[in-house]
Amino acid sequence: MTVALAIEGLHKGFAGRQVLDGFSLQVRRGEVMGLLGPNGCGKSTVLNIVCQLLQADAGQVQLMGQPLAQLGAGARARVGLCAQDCALYPDLLPQENLHFFGRLHGLSAVQRYARVNELMDSFGLGPHAATRVGRLSGGWQQRLHLAVALMHRPELLILDEPTAAVDVAARLELWRLIEGLRDSGTTILMTSHQLAEAERLCSRVALMQSGRVAALGTVPELLARVPGQAVAKLQSRDNATTMRRAQSHGWVVLQRAGQLSCLLPRHLSLREVVDALDGPEVSAVSVQAVTLEDAYLELVGDDVVIG
Ligand SMILES: Nc1ncnc2c1ncn2[C@@H]1O[C@H](COP(=O)(O)OP(=O)(O)OP(=O)(O)O)[C@@H](O)[C@H]1O
Ligand SMILES: [Mg+2]
Repeated sequence: MTVALAIEGLHKGFAGRQVLDGFSLQVRRGEVMGLLGPNGCGKSTVLNIVCQLLQADAGQVQLMGQPLAQLGAGARARVGLCAQDCALYPDLLPQENLHFFGRLHGLSAVQRYARVNELMDSFGLGPHAATRVGRLSGGWQQRLHLAVALMHRPELLILDEPTAAVDVAARLELWRLIEGLRDSGTTILMTSHQLAEAERLCSRVALMQSGRVAALGTVPELLARVPGQAVAKLQSRDNATTMRRAQSHGWVVLQRAGQLSCLLPRHLSLREVVDALDGPEVSAVSVQAVTLEDAYLELVGDDVVIG
């Protein structure tokens, strides 16, 4: 196992507020690492430090075994960033954007033309070659954004919420493209607020809390940390009564946005859950497998936990 990116003990504060507080994470070569956590927890700050757009107050980042500080500007050639805010030029055509960023990375004209053709082709951008980027849909802009980040064939690709603000069809298409990159061995560090996206794309997931990684593992490893084999989601006209009943069976009950979720110690059928709760106040019950969302809320969420 080769470590592509080693982040060690990062500290970063803004105006006296500590955002990163000893953040450490290793990304292996060829894996897709998902960095998840609530708004403002510091995900983009980590990515910006790795891309040298921000300087840490303390800590170390090594890329392929070499400290960023030593690599200097050379590190930029090895990392591709698809930032949270779209960095494209709206008045230019897609291929002009690709050329621009290729030039920025010092590619020769011959290299640029070959790479632009290749990316226009593999990202299906050909039919949009005559459309200024500002007139492309959000989904196509984001696709181009991803292509731009790959222009200089980086060893590490950083995606900051790559499918935020795109529609369902565009999201599926972006997932397919990212899966293609993953399957061809690209090392990716990405953030997302969509747990289904992380579940689908990421080899491992790091859950962030209080400026550092609070839980790390493959999706099955994180699911195994949830104290339940399945989750029963309930709607009740009397939460207190339903909670008491659920707790009487030894189930852990979480309250999320008014909905009750019970972590079941073993797989129970819908009928068994309904029978166990047995009350007229329960208006809807579903039994589901534990998902990354349950693991996220259990490990770093701020649920009201009862039982
Ligand atoms: N340049 C800056 N100056 C001042 N404060 C900043 C700066 N950059 C980030 N912050 C603050 O640091 C905290 C972490 O921001 P960051 O953008 O890293 O969070 P995030 O986890 O990426 O959030 P989101 O999920 O909303 O993208 C926030 O409170 C943010 O306001
Ligand atoms: Mg962010």
